[in-house]
Amino acid sequence: DVPSTYTDPVRIAVIGGTGLQSLPHFTLAARLNVATPWGHTSSPISILHHPAPDTGKPIPIAFLSRHGLHHEYAPHEVPARANIAALRSIGVRSIIAFSAVGSLQEEVKPRDFVVPDQVIDRTKGIRPFTFYEGGMVGHFGFGDPFDERLATIVRRCGHSLEGEGVVLHDKGTIICMEGPQFSTRAESNLYRSWGGTVINMSALPEAKLAREAEISYQMICMATDYDCWHTTEDVNVEMVMGHMKANSENARRFVGAVLDELSKEEHSDQVQAKHYEGQAKFAGSIT
Ligand code: ADE
Repeated sequence: DVPSTYTDPVRIAVIGGTGLQSLPHFTLAARLNVATPWGHTSSPISILHHPAPDTGKPIPIAFLSRHGLHHEYAPHEVPARANIAALRSIGVRSIIAFSAVGSLQEEVKPRDFVVPDQVIDRTKGIRPFTFYEGGMVGHFGFGDPFDERLATIVRRCGHSLEGEGVVLHDKGTIICMEGPQFSTRAESNLYRSWGGTVINMSALPEAKLAREAEISYQMICMATDYDCWHTTEDVNVEMVMGHMKANSENARRFVGAVLDELSKEEHSDQVQAKHYEGQAKFAGSIT
């Protein structure tokens, strides 16, 4: 009997990846099935009520499961345009996106978290990657693919949990590969030589589409393996899921702390006015 509509704008969203399929300890206020010109989202959008830590006022948070409720969308099949357009249409202006990643550097150990600041695109151009086509032409700066305002909040929250076992690396370059197969050893070593910190299959086109939709976007990565450069052992799904499961409590705590901070900001008209300035012009095209 959860409502299927929600009328207030929802400004904050979490896109959950492998191992972060839900956010417990939040009150489910609505479950939305949003249709967009780009099809349906990968999961219904749950609207969760999160009490703002300063006032106790419930702040709505949108939660979307990137790979579907039952992990039915492989990375190259995720309807990223529908996901981003749907979040935009309900008012979202900030996205925290979670992803399991392979580590390309010795010091990033499995179960460590990374707040990436760069991406190298190794997808194959087969995923729909833009809203701007068919006569609508647009070019967007993507020099810094993530949002520094969100990154600062995420880093602060991650470090505040260091005593509880969260290990956080403040920067990093994600190699976003096509998949679904993992890399060859030669590729893995090539990415290391390029300065890659971690590797996943999900940062793109999600981050590009968020930029086009003028939504602030920051990814939080959790290392689940050392990719194949590290040993003669291959990466496998059991390895990824094992580390993800073992550390899922920390992942949830981390995202919860970030939502606490973002919910506080959500109250400040001043922050909001500044933040949303310049984000209005996209509204006409997809909402
Ligand atoms: N996601 C988690 N581990 C990965 C790896 N080694 N390569 C690509 N994507 C991943």
